[in-house]
Amino acid sequence: DTARVSIDPAFAIGDVDRRLFGSFVEHMGRCVYGGVFEPGHPEADPSGLRGDVLALTRELGVSVVRYPGGNFVSGYRWEDGVGPVGDRPRRLDLAWKSIETNAFGLDEFMRWARAARVEPMLAVNLGTRGVQEACDLLEYANHPGGGHFSDLRRKHGVEQPYGVRLWCLGNELDGPWQVGHKTAEEYGRLAAETAKAMKLVDPSVSLVACGSSNRGMPTFAAWEATVLEHTYDHVDYISAHTYYDPSDGDRASMLASAVDMDAFIREVVATADHVAAKQRQRRRLKISFDEWNVWYQARLQHDLDRRGWEEAPALIEDTYTALDAVVVGDLLVTLLRHADRVGIACQAQLANVIAPIRTITGGPAWRQSIFHPFALTARHATGTVLRTEPTGPTHETTRHGEVSTVDTVATYDSDSGALALFAVNRGDSDLVLDVDLRGLPGLAGVAHTTLDAGAAPDAANTADAPERVVPRHVGVPALDAGRARILLPAASWNLIRFA
Ligand code: AHR
Repeated sequence: DTARVSIDPAFAIGDVDRRLFGSFVEHMGRCVYGGVFEPGHPEADPSGLRGDVLALTRELGVSVVRYPGGNFVSGYRWEDGVGPVGDRPRRLDLAWKSIETNAFGLDEFMRWARAARVEPMLAVNLGTRGVQEACDLLEYANHPGGGHFSDLRRKHGVEQPYGVRLWCLGNELDGPWQVGHKTAEEYGRLAAETAKAMKLVDPSVSLVACGSSNRGMPTFAAWEATVLEHTYDHVDYISAHTYYDPSDGDRASMLASAVDMDAFIREVVATADHVAAKQRQRRRLKISFDEWNVWYQARLQHDLDRRGWEEAPALIEDTYTALDAVVVGDLLVTLLRHADRVGIACQAQLANVIAPIRTITGGPAWRQSIFHPFALTARHATGTVLRTEPTGPTHETTRHGEVSTVDTVATYDSDSGALALFAVNRGDSDLVLDVDLRGLPGLAGVAHTTLDAGAAPDAANTADAPERVVPRHVGVPALDAGRARILLPAASWNLIRFA
């Protein structure tokens, strides 16, 4: 079989925003404790930040990191996590049935973010708390001084404000599982009032209103419409979350998960634009896709049920396969394709909890299979996203109906002259991709890298075998009169570079 795609710089979607390569650190399981933070670990610095995890975070190419949750934030008192560590209270974390020691809090996270060279994105608690506590936290983080909370930060040894730009107005408040779950009407009003007050504290912040927890929520789209009726004037982004679960073993559907993400994005954009039309708004909102990943979700309830209240229990430490990595690569293709409307995206989470980086407490850290497509995309997707419309074979899937077997997106960096084509073969046999590059004369092939799951879809990296699933260098793509013929192995993610 052959698929075809043309790449032309005339068809630009938008610039590649580095914020598309975000991640997420939640107080959940061993993401913080034993993940990014482990005092006494041989690789930890004097403040307990694990140097091996920091190095992998930088290698991953992460830009923005959302913190501290997630479901955790909806019951969190941020004040518990600042000041002398010995004075910090232990609390029940209702979201994850865990004991929170508060040894890691805002100031530790900001120190970590600086060391990791990432932009912080903070979430406020709109589950059990409201306008006042959000403003107090924002004052602590961003106000120079002269008020109670900004002076408290200075008393804690942080003279200069952190200047955090990105703030989430709560987390997944449409979800009945959320502590402090709300109707769209209740949340919309609270989010609008919180946003207005936060902008009085610091007008420079960008705010994210909660959209739906996933596309399958019974309230999906109606939730966004109602929330945005209240908040459109006050926010910059509407969030979206999605996880794809391979547990049922339906590989064809799993491999085509990006079809669902693509439809989700288009539907959120349509809903936001509908509200904009009704309100005669000229400004268009962007999506903050601030949780996305593959997650073997069926295992979570089992994890929680069999445990008592523990500190940093090992929760949802999914081991990712080669097939999962291909899916993650395709989800990144989808996010890039919507670069005009998706302004932020955070893979959830960074360490241990459904994460590209795994660790053993007291032991090593390693890259999961899904680390690789993320790191390569973050490194090579630069410049402008170009629209590509692949034609070729389609196939049937149970969950998504008929899907295109090949998915592509391209980025072109006019400064460096680098062209990156990201191509996924979602099918179960090899095929050839015929690439027409006549719109970019003078290019030469640089490298074709593939991560394919055809031969060993369940292969995974472990502490003992951390390099079982790694991308493979296939060769230098040959160009003949502006055309290249690229072999895409069955069930594979590919990066094809020209310059
Ligand atoms: O990332 C794990 C959890 O998934 C988050 O806490 C929550 O927001 C989502 O449901």
